[in-house]
Amino acid sequence: MNEMSLPRPNNLDSFWMPYSDNRHFKGTPRMLARAEGMSYYTPEGREVLDGTAGLWCCNAGHGRREIVEAIQKQAAIMDFAPTFQLGHPIAFEAAARVAEMTPAGLDKVFFTNSGSESADTALKIALAYQKARGQAQRVRLIGRERGYHGVGFGGMSVGGIGGNRKQFGAMLPYVDHLPHTHDPARNAFTKGQPEHGVELANHLMDLIALHGDTIAAVMVEPVAGSTGVLVPPKGYLERLREICDANGILLIYDEVITGFGRLGTDFGAERLGVTPDIMTMAKGLTNAAVPMGAVATSNEVYDTVVNNAPAGIELFHGYTYSGHPLASAAAIATLALHREEDLPGRARAIEPYWQEAAHSLRSAPGVVDIRDFGLIAGIELAPREGKPGARAMDVFRKCFDDGVLVRVTGDIVALSPPLIIEKPHVDRIFGTLSDAIHAFA
Ligand SMILES: Cc1ncc(COP(=O)(O)O)c(C=O)c1O
Repeated sequence: MNEMSLPRPNNLDSFWMPYSDNRHFKGTPRMLARAEGMSYYTPEGREVLDGTAGLWCCNAGHGRREIVEAIQKQAAIMDFAPTFQLGHPIAFEAAARVAEMTPAGLDKVFFTNSGSESADTALKIALAYQKARGQAQRVRLIGRERGYHGVGFGGMSVGGIGGNRKQFGAMLPYVDHLPHTHDPARNAFTKGQPEHGVELANHLMDLIALHGDTIAAVMVEPVAGSTGVLVPPKGYLERLREICDANGILLIYDEVITGFGRLGTDFGAERLGVTPDIMTMAKGLTNAAVPMGAVATSNEVYDTVVNNAPAGIELFHGYTYSGHPLASAAAIATLALHREEDLPGRARAIEPYWQEAAHSLRSAPGVVDIRDFGLIAGIELAPREGKPGARAMDVFRKCFDDGVLVRVTGDIVALSPPLIIEKPHVDRIFGTLSDAIHAFA
């Protein structure tokens, strides 16, 4: 495409940008106008290598023809049809394809439009399940410090990020939190899963002692991404699963970023060897080409909610766009690509190279920890005195100006490239990042 023909904004005033420093951005905008394969292009035509798969979502790389054509074709056949008391074929097909990919037994799929909606849907299903099986007193939801489950009131409340909550009042009642698993004193610079911290799962026993049989579900990310790549200690998820099973509590995984090949397997559950009862997903489901999220539940959860309901609607929940035709088409095409190109296999094959490249930054000035798992890496920088986050933001801006997109959260640089990445891309990402870290030492 001729770069001159790309759309250019004529004013930046109206768009209230999400999770952004609007005042800074609008003073010095950094724009993306086109994307293809491993790269974005600015309106001026400058290439920026994508070290973050957009926002952890374009796992198959950008502008994939198969997905684009599936969306175009579906738009011409049927733009929209409701899924309340009606159906359209490709929503069912998309659900079946997702169910083929989720761990055995998690075979029922509820569609949403985002990770946030998936989180709230999963929590609502957990409550409905407990009520349906005669445990209506189980109204309590347990999250974890530093957990991110999107921005709905459910996900925000069960999530454990103070900064995301401080503007918004009282949150959901009946929520409690496990401690996070980040332990740099014992685990700094670990490659893959840390050795120390399995005992942190036992805090769930303390919460059970406190709250008795009022806990409905525990929700965690298999690998926490948004708060800076926190990889679960060895044995931790196994122990959580054990305690949940012994105490009538559902285990929910938020797989919004760990799903669809990111950890070298279809879902994080497979790589980590521990299967939840309910799993959320979004992002990689459609390669982010059309917004879509989903919640997969065990057959037991579905059967209990559906079969114990009086005749009529069984779950009073749903979105106008649940199973939207364009999103369903995008999902079907994405999951086909995922299989044909064995994206999890590609991620697995390059993971050792990625890991070594990430850990090669260990001696760079001000690097205090490096974490990685699958095709994720987190590089933690020492904060500047009195200015948390400022250093990483400088690094982010320099990387962008030098042609590599990274993501920062606090003083942590988080990387999660498309799974089609090759070794020269890996070298360029970490080379550019290293230069930026040195520049702001
Ligand atoms: C684990 C997790 N859950 C939920 C969300 C929210 O997804 P969305 O922004 O699509 O609502 C995210 C987004 O990054 C996430 O990482």
